[in-house]
Amino acid sequence: MKHGLVTNNAVRGLLYREAVRRGETWLPYSPFTIYLDPCNACNLKCTFCPQSHWGSRARGCMSWELFEHALAQVAELRPARLFLFCFGEATLNDRLADMVRAAVDARLRVRIHTNAVALTEEKARGLIEAGLQNIRFSFDTADRELYERMRAGSSFDRVVANIRRMIAIRRATGRANPVFELQEIVPYAEGVKPENTQAYRDLFEGENVVFRAKFMHSFAGQSRETEFAAQGREGVSHCSQLYRRIVVNFDGKIHACCLDPEGYNIVGDLAQGDTIAEAWNSPRMLELRRRTNEGDVAGLEPCDDCELLTRANPVVGSPLGRIASSLAWVCIGAHRCGGV
Ligand SMILES: C[S@@+](CC[C@H](N)C(=O)[O-])C[C@H]1O[C@@H](n2cnc3c(N)ncnc32)[C@H](O)[C@@H]1O
Ligand code: SF4
Ligand code: SF4
Repeated sequence: MKHGLVTNNAVRGLLYREAVRRGETWLPYSPFTIYLDPCNACNLKCTFCPQSHWGSRARGCMSWELFEHALAQVAELRPARLFLFCFGEATLNDRLADMVRAAVDARLRVRIHTNAVALTEEKARGLIEAGLQNIRFSFDTADRELYERMRAGSSFDRVVANIRRMIAIRRATGRANPVFELQEIVPYAEGVKPENTQAYRDLFEGENVVFRAKFMHSFAGQSRETEFAAQGREGVSHCSQLYRRIVVNFDGKIHACCLDPEGYNIVGDLAQGDTIAEAWNSPRMLELRRRTNEGDVAGLEPCDDCELLTRANPVVGSPLGRIASSLAWVCIGAHRCGGV
């Protein structure tokens, strides 16, 4: 383990809680989630997603060589999950199934989110046979007219057919994986949990799927659709993204956050010889953690408009859990933090 970071998931959880409680910015554990983005380009222009209008950032699909280079590092960092998607549409990468197979062979848990527009029979079969564990269909609503307005460029009927076909292929193979998740997006409402509508459940009734409901968010102020705006910063404890996740874009640039497709906060570059482990505790990453911890985000794009910072998000636990976290930090974390 050349990077020296803790990769055991239970210990990682204890260290995470303690790092947040203490306001530490150098982290002795590896990320819970790593994104490798197979393709940051997209075949849709969804009204609520900054992909539809972001400006200067280059777009493309990750090369196989870069993927292999990145995967070797991810396999050593042992995140709890590898996300093979991020800023664009992963299914546009012709080697996506090969990527999944290589990651599964490296004993990683792999998840994809897709709009399912380009999910041909061949691609669906390829992903199933590669051993993909989770796929989430971003299918926002059962309302055909609303769907086609929100997912500009998509066809309701075609996408429903693509999703049903993939489910049928898995059924025919007798496999348990991938787990199919259907994600409905619902308007934000204060103080309640997002819930699926009955119409949405009815549309896929009888299919072996997990229903998910998600609030629309402002994508750190970069979405043009939502009214949702950051509201005050009372109760901020930390930015959980910066303590749990990291993103490798299609070209090897390492982004601090999955809500930053423009790359305001680039913390490393695989193409320049940086590693994901170095980026995780790079000076820029430490500064981002410090500034978001302190609510010192004026002029810090895109965090200055991010609603994730407006939610009180204290990392609480039982008294016993607190003792375990402190002990883990004293035994593992503390002596690695000299370089803060
Ligand atoms: C940026 S997309 C990339 C993956 C793929 N293109 C897709 O649509 O599933 C990742 C996830 O973000 C969700 N998303 C995009 N904009 C959003 C917003 N403003 N609020 C909530 N979720 C959003 C999408 O529905 C998708 O599940
Ligand atoms: S939500 Fe997904 S499909 Fe829609 S524009 Fe964004 S990246 Fe593309
Ligand atoms: S505060 Fe910044 S780093 Fe954290 S989720 Fe929001 S945009 Fe990303």
